[in-house]
Amino acid sequence: MKIVTMASTKGGSGKSTLACCLAVEAMASHERVYLLDLDPQGSFAAWWRMRGGPANPQLIRDAPTIAAAVRKVGDTGDAVMIVDTPNGPLDRIDKAIDASGCVVIPLQPGPFDILSSDAVNQLIADNHAQSRVVRVVNRAAKKNPLVAEAIAEIESHGGGSPIVIEDRHLYPTAMLDGKAVQELRSKPAKVEIAALWRAVEGVLNGK
Ligand SMILES: Nc1ncnc2c1ncn2[C@@H]1O[C@H](COP(=O)(O)OP(=O)(O)OP(=O)(O)O)[C@@H](O)[C@H]1O
Ligand SMILES: [Mg+2]
Repeated sequence: MKIVTMASTKGGSGKSTLACCLAVEAMASHERVYLLDLDPQGSFAAWWRMRGGPANPQLIRDAPTIAAAVRKVGDTGDAVMIVDTPNGPLDRIDKAIDASGCVVIPLQPGPFDILSSDAVNQLIADNHAQSRVVRVVNRAAKKNPLVAEAIAEIESHGGGSPIVIEDRHLYPTAMLDGKAVQELRSKPAKVEIAALWRAVEGVLNGK
């Protein structure tokens, strides 16, 4: 099972939104995609229901951990599991990071977001997971000077350049219909989500 976990200790960074986009993107290259919502808020599960509760991607229910979810569906080699997590408590995020082949960390370009990224960076360091991380600057409005600061902050941790996802109203608009942004007619959004998925696949394949 290829496990991709969204992680961030800051609320509202875009974990659930990007989880939905990644689930749809994964469908293009993988026959089986599973969704696991470890956040009691249940946004990821709600999106799946808005999508009509399809058999693929399939929501795994009543599994409190990644290990339990894998036991439920069986470890089918090429299948992908996208895992959404809450922004706390830390031990829950820590456990999910440990069980994942790739960890996607979204960061919004804001002072408090940058300050509070220390906590998730510490979890990554504790798990020796640097090589399994894909970092994202999310909601990067073109004219926002803090975008460059967020990119510099990420680069200072030695993980290379982040994927940059723009602030587009189509992201939430798509969610409302149980869709992902790349299923709407937005070429630029399609391109940035494809780049994000390529980075995730690169990590999963150990490149
Ligand atoms: N790239 C984007 N452009 C515009 N809006 C976005 C983008 N990404 C996320 N949003 C919006 O930002 C808000 C927070 O996103 P989301 O719920 O995905 O974050 P989260 O990290 O899952 O939050 P939580 O910590 O509460 O689970 C939502 O209203 C979402 O629609
Ligand atoms: Mg969420």
